Amino acid sequence: MPSGALHRIVYMSTALGVLRAEELDRIYLRAKSANARAGITGLLLFYEGAFLQMLEGPAAGVMSLAERIRRDRRHGGLITLESQAVDERAFADSPMHFVAARNLSVGEKQAFSDLRQAASVRSHMIGASAPGADNGLWELISSFNPLRAV
Ligand SMILES: Cc1cc2nc3c(=O)[nH]c(=O)nc-3n(C[C@H](O)[C@H](O)[C@H](O)COP(=O)(O)O)c2cc1C
Repeated sequence: MPSGALHRIVYMSTALGVLRAEELDRIYLRAKSANARAGITGLLLFYEGAFLQMLEGPAAGVMSLAERIRRDRRHGGLITLESQAVDERAFADSPMHFVAARNLSVGEKQAFSDLRQAASVRSHMIGASAPGADNGLWELISSFNPLRAV
C-alpha cells in the first residue's frame, strides 16, 4: 500500500432515485477493487435511501476520490461529517467494508437515523461544525470493527 500522510473523510448522502440491489453491488464491487489499488480502506453503509461512507488512506488519493464521489449522480446532498489527518486507519484490512440495511442491527439502524437527522439539521445552520463526534458517529463506525474499536 502507498505510504504517506493519512487522511480520513466521513460523509452522509442521499441516494437519488431508486437504487436497486444490483446498482449497490456495482458501486461496492467497483469501490472494493479501485480502493485496494489506491490503498484506500473504509466503510460504506446503506440504510433507508442514505449512505454513510468512511474513506481513509493517503491524503491526495482520499481527497480526489471524495471529489469524484461527490459528483456521482447516483446520490446527492452530501454532508461531510469529518475530514482530518489521522495517525492510523480504523479499517486497515478492508478496502471497502459494505453493510446493507438488512445486516444492520436495530441499534445500528437507530444510530444511523439519529446521525442523519443531526447531520441534516446542522447542514442548515450557518457556520455549524461537523456533526460527527458528538452524535454517535464513532460508536456506530466502531461497531463494524470489533477488533479495532477506535
Ligand atoms: C455512495 C457511493 C460510494 C462510492 N464509493 C466509491 C469508492 O469507495 N471508491 C470508488 O472508486 N468509487 C466509489 N464510488 C463510485 C464513484 O463515484 C465513481 O463512479 C467511480 O469512482 C468511477 O469514477 P469515474 O467514472 O470518474 O472513473 C461510489 C459511488 C457512490 C454513489
